[in-house]
Amino acid sequence: MLRTLGAVAALTLTLPNPALADGHQTLLENAAIVDVETGNIRRGQNVLIEDGRIAAIGSRIGADSGAERIDLDGAFLLPGLTDSHVHLTSRADKHGLRRLTVSTPRAAISGVANAKTTLEAGFTTVRNLGAPGYADIDLRKAIDEGEVIGPRIVGAGQAISITGGHCGDATSLPYEDQIKGRAADGPWAARQKVRENKKYGADVIKFCATGGVLSPNTTINAQQFTLEEMKAITDEARALDLKVAVHAHGPRGIQSALDAGVDSVEHASMITDAGIAQAVEQGTYLSMDVYVSDYILSEGEAAGILEESLAKERQVGRFQRERFRVAVEAGANIAFGTDAGVYPHGTNARQFSKMVEWGMTPLQAIQASTVGNADLFGMSDEIGTITVGKFADFVAVPENPLDDVSVLEHVDFVMKNGAVYKNTLAD
Ligand code: ARG
Repeated sequence: MLRTLGAVAALTLTLPNPALADGHQTLLENAAIVDVETGNIRRGQNVLIEDGRIAAIGSRIGADSGAERIDLDGAFLLPGLTDSHVHLTSRADKHGLRRLTVSTPRAAISGVANAKTTLEAGFTTVRNLGAPGYADIDLRKAIDEGEVIGPRIVGAGQAISITGGHCGDATSLPYEDQIKGRAADGPWAARQKVRENKKYGADVIKFCATGGVLSPNTTINAQQFTLEEMKAITDEARALDLKVAVHAHGPRGIQSALDAGVDSVEHASMITDAGIAQAVEQGTYLSMDVYVSDYILSEGEAAGILEESLAKERQVGRFQRERFRVAVEAGANIAFGTDAGVYPHGTNARQFSKMVEWGMTPLQAIQASTVGNADLFGMSDEIGTITVGKFADFVAVPENPLDDVSVLEHVDFVMKNGAVYKNTLAD
């Protein structure tokens, strides 16, 4: 518990949904509860919810309580889905040079709409790995205060880049010069960026250890930051009780990030066998966004993605999926991270079937998005399983997702913190 306190204090100490009065009870009746740890299904279960948390679970629980009742009619009930890599403030139709038209306040406004869409798609907690001007932190606050609707956010604030790097300081786009402040060179400058993020409310630190697909004038293979700088970032984050997520495609950047002891490698596209073995050994999570390539290569050009970026995607997309299969076979910790924002928010769940296509069982893919991410976020005491005491965050679907994981692309019921955000089960 203590271990998680620092990282999630800001989240857990905030109010449950203000719409729900103290002592409010809700009873979910006749659920087929999916135990995401074992794959067992318990039918005919009731779940009693009090003050936004799970108070009791059982076949006859709450039958004579005064709780408000919701009949799930035998639907499959799972913990709320989570995504370890989103950009709520980004829009999938504003890529490449179109980004020049998006101011930070405009991005924040998009974030409000995207947060609602994401929650209604069943994602009750997301890790936002980089936003301009700390817009994700303000979004988190507005959601926690009940002002706008959205998932619980674990926010990175501003991702940290080298000068001229992926993560907000790529060259070629003059606009990047106007949003200075994300680049740091040298261990102390990098530490300062970690401190600055902490100061403005970040829950997790994100930095970029290689170039990227979507940033002009960066290359996937090029390492960003020396090992010394990466160690400084990780060490500073540890001192401030923050976890570290690192963007990395090419093998050298991935290797240094693993050596620096980061908590998750995002993309991990060209991770070597040795890198996978090291990730397994250290328990490092691999947050491999194996769906997004389909969007980039089919809709990307129309969305403004530059030819230079499309060429990089062709180089990395399939390779990443092949490495994903090897990582799954090796038993690596796999997070469910999608990079939503590059593609449309609310379609995050499309990645489940991609993960199954590339080597996971449906249960493993669901585990990545529930128990796995909960562990990565340092929130295992709060989310990830249907357990008494945890947040009342759920999705429900009429069909069994362990038979066909794609049913999660259209959830019929969404609850977060005990409040219902969607219920079309009876339709
Ligand atoms: N934001 C990432 C980047 O620009 C997207 C990479 C997507 N491609 C992939 N195959 N995962 O690098």
